[in-house]
Amino acid sequence: MMNKRILTTLILAPALALANCGSLDSGSSSGATGGWMYPTLGREKPIVIGHRGASGALPEHTLEAYQRALNDGADCIEPDLVLTKDGALVVRHDTYLSSTTNVASKPEFAKRKRRSTDPEYEGRDDWWVSDFTLAEIRTLRAVQPFPGRPKVFDGLYKIPTFDEVLDLAKSRVTVASKQVCVYPEAKSPAYFASVGHPDVAEKILATLKKHGMDGAGSPVFIQSFEPDFVQKIDGMTELPVVMLVADKAGYDAAMAKPGAPFWQGLGPNLNMLIGADGKSTGIVEAAHAKGIKVHPWTFRDDAPPVKGEAVEVAMRRFIALGIDGYFTDFPITGYKVRNEIQYGGE
Ligand code: G3P
Ligand code: CA
Repeated sequence: MMNKRILTTLILAPALALANCGSLDSGSSSGATGGWMYPTLGREKPIVIGHRGASGALPEHTLEAYQRALNDGADCIEPDLVLTKDGALVVRHDTYLSSTTNVASKPEFAKRKRRSTDPEYEGRDDWWVSDFTLAEIRTLRAVQPFPGRPKVFDGLYKIPTFDEVLDLAKSRVTVASKQVCVYPEAKSPAYFASVGHPDVAEKILATLKKHGMDGAGSPVFIQSFEPDFVQKIDGMTELPVVMLVADKAGYDAAMAKPGAPFWQGLGPNLNMLIGADGKSTGIVEAAHAKGIKVHPWTFRDDAPPVKGEAVEVAMRRFIALGIDGYFTDFPITGYKVRNEIQYGGE
């Protein structure tokens, strides 16, 4: 396995050359090779990541939401991956089904509801993806989990497999006619190992390989909150891996692992990057010093980082910090803000 630490720039540059494609420039010099006005790694413009698709507009993690994200200017689409009883990788944010599907309205599954065996959801009574076969998951339809977001699409869209997301990514291009970047997250791999699926990493990489998206130059980032998983898959692939951290404790725990940092990208909670004094906490700078990209989450038009402040204002502040990309439920806003900066207009 090549040393990705040394080759980070070489590896990420071709990936971003494909993925860093939301610009409206047509052949100008401000592409992936640099020219961005803020201190991103390599001075590449930040990528816009459609978080769970355009999840602010349509039920999350559906092919329709991913299509919408790409129509709205996303460079990347983000599938969160979980496993069915029969080992299929399907796309859901949660290991349970009640929030994002119509499972509760299906009488045939009424007796499937049970108490969690996942320590993360101790005490929760729900329907669990790992109890359902892929064929059963196929009978469900997605619903909008966020209060205040449109529910008129509830019950219309299927739960996709990872395979189908990759088919979609390959079937079209971004608004800038670039290859679509895919940013899969392995959700709760330790939990899935405990219920009979120890091979999440192998399955993710095999699916990417099937689609010809497993090479060093493929527009793919693999992410997880679990350091053990990130370290494992980092050793199995030439693709860049991203360490997700929800808070300082999570960051410190990952950094304390022998061999850390064993990731080429860091995915921190937005609130870790700027302190109460309005200044950088140093996380972006420290990552860049090691050749690591920073892709924080999650910008939401309807829940901005600072209550009462337009999300666009906050987004500009974070972009000025030099973040290399950002997750947003509203990629249309993320795309607009980046391009306003790029072209100096409103
Ligand atoms: O993967 C980045 C971000 O999505 C992490 O949070 O809970 O929305 O998956 P979550
Ligand atoms: Ca995610």
